[in-house]
Amino acid sequence: MTVAIVVGAQWGDEGKGKVVDLLSEETKMVVRYGGGANAGHTLVLSGKQLITHLIPSGVLHPGTKCVLGDGMVIDPNVLVKEIGECKAMGLLAGDELLIGEGAHLVMPYHKLLEGLREDRSAELGKSIGTTRRGIGPTYESKCARRGVRAMDLGNRSRLEELFEANLGEIRALVSHYGKEPPSAAQVTEWIDELMRAGEILLPSVGDAGQAVSQAIASGQHVLFEGAQGALLDIDHGTYPYVTSSSTLASGAPQSLGIGPTRIDKVIGITKAYCTRVGEGPFPTEMQGAEEESWREAGGEFGATTGRPRRCGWLDAAALRRVVRTNGLSSLALTKLDILSGRGPIKVCVGYRVNGEVIRELPRREEQGLEPVYEEFAGWDEDISGARSVDELPSNARNYVAALEAMTGVPFCLLSVGPDRTQTIILREQF
Ligand code: GDP
Ligand code: IMO
Ligand code: MG
Repeated sequence: MTVAIVVGAQWGDEGKGKVVDLLSEETKMVVRYGGGANAGHTLVLSGKQLITHLIPSGVLHPGTKCVLGDGMVIDPNVLVKEIGECKAMGLLAGDELLIGEGAHLVMPYHKLLEGLREDRSAELGKSIGTTRRGIGPTYESKCARRGVRAMDLGNRSRLEELFEANLGEIRALVSHYGKEPPSAAQVTEWIDELMRAGEILLPSVGDAGQAVSQAIASGQHVLFEGAQGALLDIDHGTYPYVTSSSTLASGAPQSLGIGPTRIDKVIGITKAYCTRVGEGPFPTEMQGAEEESWREAGGEFGATTGRPRRCGWLDAAALRRVVRTNGLSSLALTKLDILSGRGPIKVCVGYRVNGEVIRELPRREEQGLEPVYEEFAGWDEDISGARSVDELPSNARNYVAALEAMTGVPFCLLSVGPDRTQTIILREQF
């Protein structure tokens, strides 16, 4: 029995969905533990693509339990839509879905508020560049102890009570931004919509923590799926340019209410280069035509918002911080195929600060760091068909070995294309 956590080791979009889908072959339970529909996880099998925003990436495996943890913030309308898409593909035909009853729900007023705040911040040139999916305001309501939870679905008087408790302030805030506050008719419409969503979702709402604990106790493999990336963590990311949840591996046991002693391994996912969507520090970011050509080569456009992703070189100094904050037992390297034919490869091995080189991304000096690069010879061969290390060019093998030495963490798999099958397994995880 193995309990493993998959965590993004950069600023998100590392290919977590692909890796979780692949590892789901071995497990009967996959658990999303944080964030909400700000995530976009791409699964590809035999040329068919599915992007999951809320449903765990084990969904392509019939019979695998897909659990949405209590630490998530769930937009009921997005979830209803996603369930519909999955069912249209013949997925979720049984009782695979389990929604943690303590999970907080994203309300229309959360999204309204976030939109107004982001617009105002953009005018001031201080935008965070959120996904506008209501994530931050929903976690605010949770911490203020006036959130709407999955267990409240279907209970009209309870929903009306909670809306009443929230809308006074929401109306004042909307007015503060110079907009018309939601009318009574609008609020009734929101509650009607929530009641309709409840009819679909309620049969799947239950005690997710108990279910996960029981699965572990009965000796099953359990896989936790992280969303976002470690550098977007609310406590240990590049604050304030972060999301509002605990994206680190430690967020997984917290979300499901299981003890950290139950976790056996933590697998970090990193691209062979680096991307970031939204604002915030990115020491190895490329500029101009160079960045443009990497974005084009890697297809680096957001799976949720379609925004162009910022592109840069792999940052081993940032990875060292992520290895430490997550206690990574292994790494998965994705998009290695994108390096083919792109010439020499640079890796940031530290930053020059006051004439000295520091080896790990520091907490307080994330802006304006001067990266120190090491350069590696590239390769021209198409490696998307490689299924073992022996089939890789020697320069690709050298690059992988150098990254292992820099991070002190072994790779468990190399990904050479978006499809589940385009993978070189180095160490079995279950
Ligand atoms: P996630 O949010 O971490 O699940 O990642 P996304 O799905 O947002 O973005 C990763 C993108 O890279 C998706 O379009 C994947 O299909 C794609 N992808 C994943 N692994 C590989 C790989 O090894 N090679 C290539 N070329 N694409 C990959
Ligand atoms: P996956 O799971 C990449 C980023 C946003 C923004 C910041 C805050 O697909 O890797 P939020 O809407 O969460 O309040 O936005 O976090 N962000 C992501 N970037 N991948 C994600 O998820 C992200 N989820 C949030 O772009 O910079
Ligand atoms: Mg993504």
